[in-house]
Amino acid sequence: MSSLPIPNAEAQAHSQKLAALIQTHISQHQGWISFADFMQMALYEPQLGYYSGGAKKFGRGGDFVTAPEISPLFSQTLANQAAQVLADTQGSILELGAGTGKLALDLLMALQDLNQLPEQYCIMEVSAHLRHIQQETLQKALPAELLQRVVWLDTLPQDFVGMIVGNEVLDAIPVHLVHHTEQGLYERGVVFNGNFVLKDRPLLPGNLFDTAEALALPQDYLTEICPAASGLIASLAHALKKGVIIMLDYGFSAREYYHPQRNLGTLMCHYQHYAHTEPLVYVGLQDITAHVDFTSIAHAGVNNELELAGFCSQAQFLMNCGILDLMSKVSPQDMANYAPLAAAAQKLLSPAEMGDLFKVIAFSKQLDIALLGFSVGDKSHIL
Ligand SMILES: C[S@@+](CC[C@H](N)C(=O)[O-])C[C@H]1O[C@@H](n2cnc3c(N)ncnc32)[C@H](O)[C@@H]1O
Repeated sequence: MSSLPIPNAEAQAHSQKLAALIQTHISQHQGWISFADFMQMALYEPQLGYYSGGAKKFGRGGDFVTAPEISPLFSQTLANQAAQVLADTQGSILELGAGTGKLALDLLMALQDLNQLPEQYCIMEVSAHLRHIQQETLQKALPAELLQRVVWLDTLPQDFVGMIVGNEVLDAIPVHLVHHTEQGLYERGVVFNGNFVLKDRPLLPGNLFDTAEALALPQDYLTEICPAASGLIASLAHALKKGVIIMLDYGFSAREYYHPQRNLGTLMCHYQHYAHTEPLVYVGLQDITAHVDFTSIAHAGVNNELELAGFCSQAQFLMNCGILDLMSKVSPQDMANYAPLAAAAQKLLSPAEMGDLFKVIAFSKQLDIALLGFSVGDKSHIL
């Protein structure tokens, strides 16, 4: 912790405002709130939360880098999957949590080259600040005939046809912390005693208790459970009439996620490219994230009338979608263009970087085609 960069005075003042609001929220709830409530406020409190506030988050000078920010190669490869779905459905794209708008930009440009533009490119973004950045990105770089296809939605559409996609959205959804001790199941929440402090209390009967009990966690075991991520998948399932939902993120199947050796869970914080495990500091200034339990995501889809259409590593998905063909369009002799492409491919594909830890899960509804991205190495049977 001592090695974390110190925020400037303006950032500290911003953080104190949010901390004061969270303190009030805690005192209005008998002195204890769930970690999920704390994370919701820390990330999404209007104007003050990490994603709602104004600081730079993505890329160099921010806190972390996501795949669309690494290189257009990621979105260009994903465009091959989108083109297959759009050719079949003649539909639109709905992107959740569009960050800086980079995926939308590169996906639309690539789909234009493939002559397979979506009827509309819809974006659902919970952060008003990021929505503004997305508008700036797209207005600056998209030709008018593409820009006019982009719309920002406040609520999920009904009877959506086409492809719904979200990159690194599920990991940003607030999680509950569950602690299994010799005395039974506890929920870890947050109290305030001059500072924010984590505090366990017995897990009360209810859905969270049932989910935790069904996981048969080992003793002395702290982990996360994310009912809101399953809820989001259920809402998307109801919004989709025909097409696919594709979510890309870091995480594991439940068997790996709740492995006895992972006894401290997966919660991580990111501040200016430092990764650490102290979610109660730098409130509103740092990202808080947990890995995704793809088994619970798969169940949420299947229980809401979706078909599980594929699950594999990001590397496998990108290979299936033709990342190597895209790279082969640039000659290795053309060092200026090839070197950044090779560096990006290394980050996206290498098991030591994003290739293995990041996974892709897809659901379909009313679709007869086998998805390109899972043509080889589909592991949906392990979920
Ligand atoms: C880690 S960022 C990823 C941004 C972008 N997709 C990328 O890959 O660079 C998480 C994004 O998800 C958004 N988000 C979180 N919960 C959401 C929800 N329920 N619906 C839509 N967007 C959400 C955040 O505001 C943010 O834009």
